[in-house]
Amino acid sequence: MIINPAELDTHSVYKLLAGSVVPRPIAWVSTSSRQAELNLAPFSFFTVASREPPMLAISIGPRTGGEAYAKDTLTNIRETREFVINIVSVSLADAMHETAVNHAPEVNEFARAGVTPAASVVVATPRVAEARISMECTLEHMLKLGTDYLVVGRMQRFHIDDDLISNGRIDLLALDPLGRMAGNFTKVESLFDLPLADK
Ligand SMILES: Cc1cc2nc3c(=O)[nH]c(=O)nc-3n(C[C@H](O)[C@H](O)[C@H](O)COP(=O)(O)O)c2cc1C
Repeated sequence: MIINPAELDTHSVYKLLAGSVVPRPIAWVSTSSRQAELNLAPFSFFTVASREPPMLAISIGPRTGGEAYAKDTLTNIRETREFVINIVSVSLADAMHETAVNHAPEVNEFARAGVTPAASVVVATPRVAEARISMECTLEHMLKLGTDYLVVGRMQRFHIDDDLISNGRIDLLALDPLGRMAGNFTKVESLFDLPLADK
């Protein structure tokens, strides 16, 4: 089957994209508003954008109800030019999911999700204390691509639980990262090597 996305409606294309580009990591993004209200929300359109200097990218779409105003994460990053990406372990799945709900901007989503804000070093926005990895970012680029905004952050600090690093590598099974599939989720249950792979 060959499909021309231009002949499908937006939601049908989205469903095919979300089921084709899998599994996706989840950036659990903390931001603060100009009034210092805290916000948390998950974004699975998320990747490394540059290794040197280290940059991370997320893509923020329009509100699903078609409302004209931007998602709080986008508004906050525009205003403060900073954010923190927290990595979601399986143990944090329910808390993360709670923050995908469309709460009013003044709702503190840390409190709503039952997680603890911990001070960052470079940015004013706190990280999630319960996340085993967090990355402080300052806004490098914001690019409007179609309906979405590609937000690229320069990663200024890693926060990694001590017991997660050995020989400079992350213990992936201990991290237990949650992955996003189309509408549902996956966990990393086994790892294997490809002997001929370029290491
Ligand atoms: C696992 C997961 C991944 C998501 N990924 C994205 C994404 O990549 N881009 C996006 O715009 N919304 C994504 N969403 C929806 C946002 O999290 C949701 O719109 C949220 O309410 C935005 O919150 P905010 O208004 O506080 O920024 C995702 C939701 C879930 C549960």
